[in-house]
Amino acid sequence: MKKATIIYWSGTGNTEMMANAIAEGVKVNGIDVEVVRVEDANKDMVINSEILAFGCPSMGIEVLEEEFMEPFIESLSDIDFSGKTVALFGSYDWGDGEWMRNWAERMKQYGANLVDEEGLIIHLTPDDEGIDNCKALGEQLARG
Ligand SMILES: Cc1cc2nc3c(=O)[nH]c(=O)nc-3n(C[C@H](O)[C@H](O)[C@H](O)COP(=O)(O)O)c2cc1C
Repeated sequence: MKKATIIYWSGTGNTEMMANAIAEGVKVNGIDVEVVRVEDANKDMVINSEILAFGCPSMGIEVLEEEFMEPFIESLSDIDFSGKTVALFGSYDWGDGEWMRNWAERMKQYGANLVDEEGLIIHLTPDDEGIDNCKALGEQLARG
């Protein structure tokens, strides 16, 4: 049985809503999924999961949140991502998604196979359609 882990940072809950909706989608396929705040996450969780989703809103000026998420993602640069299926997601406000484009490019350089090459970005709080898109991404992840 494949193991799925969703690791995210969220300041005001928007990206957290996305994380939980993605988890619902993964579960539809009967896969065991753990949703973890990056503050409580560790590298072994990534090493031991075949299905992974990482979430972070656009922060700073179009960068990952700098205290927890940025160092965590940096710590994954030497992980062997072969055989793992990965998705990226996050909420934003006034930008044009630059943080996600850069993040997706970085994860590809790490060797990650992204199910949605551009990452799933949602403006502020996900509406019903946004939640459905998150669930669909979870289902896509679970199919590998
Ligand atoms: C300090 C700070 C910096 C931000 N920088 C950006 C940014 O560069 N681009 C952008 O589109 N949104 C930016 N935002 C808006 C957040 O991405 C947006 O509010 C998002 O919904 C927060 O997600 P969360 O509820 O998961 O924390 C920023 C918000 C804060 C508080």
